[in-house]
Amino acid sequence: MLKKRVIILISGRGSNLQAIVNDSRNKNCPYQVVAVISNNPLAEGLEFAANNDIITAILNHKQFSSREAFDQELAKLIDGFQPDIIALAGFMRILTNDFVEYFKGRLINIHPSLLPNFAGLHTHQRAIEAGVSEHGATVHFVITEVDAGQIILQAKVPVLKTDTPEILGARVLEEEHRIYPQALCLLAENKIRFEN
Ligand code: GRF
Repeated sequence: MLKKRVIILISGRGSNLQAIVNDSRNKNCPYQVVAVISNNPLAEGLEFAANNDIITAILNHKQFSSREAFDQELAKLIDGFQPDIIALAGFMRILTNDFVEYFKGRLINIHPSLLPNFAGLHTHQRAIEAGVSEHGATVHFVITEVDAGQIILQAKVPVLKTDTPEILGARVLEEEHRIYPQALCLLAENKIRFEN
């Protein structure tokens, strides 16, 4: 079986990256992680990747004069690895429409809410403030509209009266670590594909 080639884009901690890499170690996993790219030279996830013999690359957005110039260079870097799938995992950059269009159908993201609820930032705090009884995480295709692409998988968790954003966030994160590898498997096995 030819394993699908996955690139992971991070900006920080990289706990989803770890979950994905750990899953990819299973013999029957239909994908392999071929590289990790970070826009942040200090992202903790880079160390994990390097310790696990995965190629890492840093492309510091601060060294580019415009969003367009950064995204063009990022696209070139990604193309060099010939990926089948590009997985955003805590990649804290708004991507240009050109970039998203270029990789459309191969570009996926994880968002810490049950989309379409709570697109954007501070999702756990907003879920608590809204008084919802369920919250969760979503893996979705990336389209030009932020956090609005077709949903691949979701996982729900309860919101408890005693929850703080941190406690709720930890409960959601556990589910993220479960569904992101699952979503990659679905894509890698062609069980799911993007349609406009
Ligand atoms: C996760 O909560 C993910 O849903 C969001 O950013 C966070 C990244 O965490 N997009 P990590 O870097 O994977 O630990």
